[in-house]
Amino acid sequence: MTTPRKIATTLRRTPTVEGAGVRLHRVFGAADPRFDPFLLLDDFGSDDPADYLAGFPWHPHRGMETVTYVLSGEVEHTDSLGNRGVIRSGDVQWMSAGSGIVHQEMPQRFDGFMRALQLWVNLPAALKMTPPRYREVQAMAIPEAIPAAGVRVQVIAGEVAGFRGPVTDVVAEPELLDVSLAPGAALEHPVPEGHTVLAYVLEGGGFVDAERDRPLRAGELAVLVEGDAVRAAADDEPLRFLLMAGRPLGEPVAWQGPIVMSTRAELETAFRELSEGTFIKHPG
Ligand code: CO
Repeated sequence: MTTPRKIATTLRRTPTVEGAGVRLHRVFGAADPRFDPFLLLDDFGSDDPADYLAGFPWHPHRGMETVTYVLSGEVEHTDSLGNRGVIRSGDVQWMSAGSGIVHQEMPQRFDGFMRALQLWVNLPAALKMTPPRYREVQAMAIPEAIPAAGVRVQVIAGEVAGFRGPVTDVVAEPELLDVSLAPGAALEHPVPEGHTVLAYVLEGGGFVDAERDRPLRAGELAVLVEGDAVRAAADDEPLRFLLMAGRPLGEPVAWQGPIVMSTRAELETAFRELSEGTFIKHPG
């Protein structure tokens, strides 16, 4: 007997400008216990390259992880470890900044609607200064599970119907699923009790709770609480949503720009090291 989660809060994405002038939508971006261990979710894309070509030139990160999921288009990246590559449609880059990296992320001119998501995941205090780690996951390495009729799930992290996602060994034990429901289809998916669970609607609309009293539209996020399963259903239109789940860290957060530490003093150290040129601890 499962208890499907219910909606505690819904949020709508809001337009903002980031990087060197990328027009994007921020879904959330706050050290809020409701999102813990997640910190931020950005949704960027446009059919006008002028909205994204400025990109995210050289910038540092420390103490957190960034997960970049390209839905359509190409994002070129380069970093202080010597990594260089292109994240293409359907690919995921899971980057653990640890003690610090400096990188750039540059969306490339794309013929059509370019769209990518970036999710920030916090690292626990004990792991903030560990060596940075990059994981490149190509689209073809991401299994597609079909747990029920009319339901397709790209399993990036976590497990669905016996298919295990390629991203493992992350402290927050995250699940990251790209779920598509055909009209009339439904899905029930188990989630650990006590984990934070968020559902962000990418396309279409439908329900992500059992009560079905709050239909969600594209661009809306639901915080799902109290229970050990997520029950989602599409009505008369398709529903595509990103399901994010993870174990909350429950630690203090000191966050400024791209650096996420536990104390104010650690933040000050990070910014001083940046100005003194001693920021990189593990050159790769
Ligand atoms: Co970055």
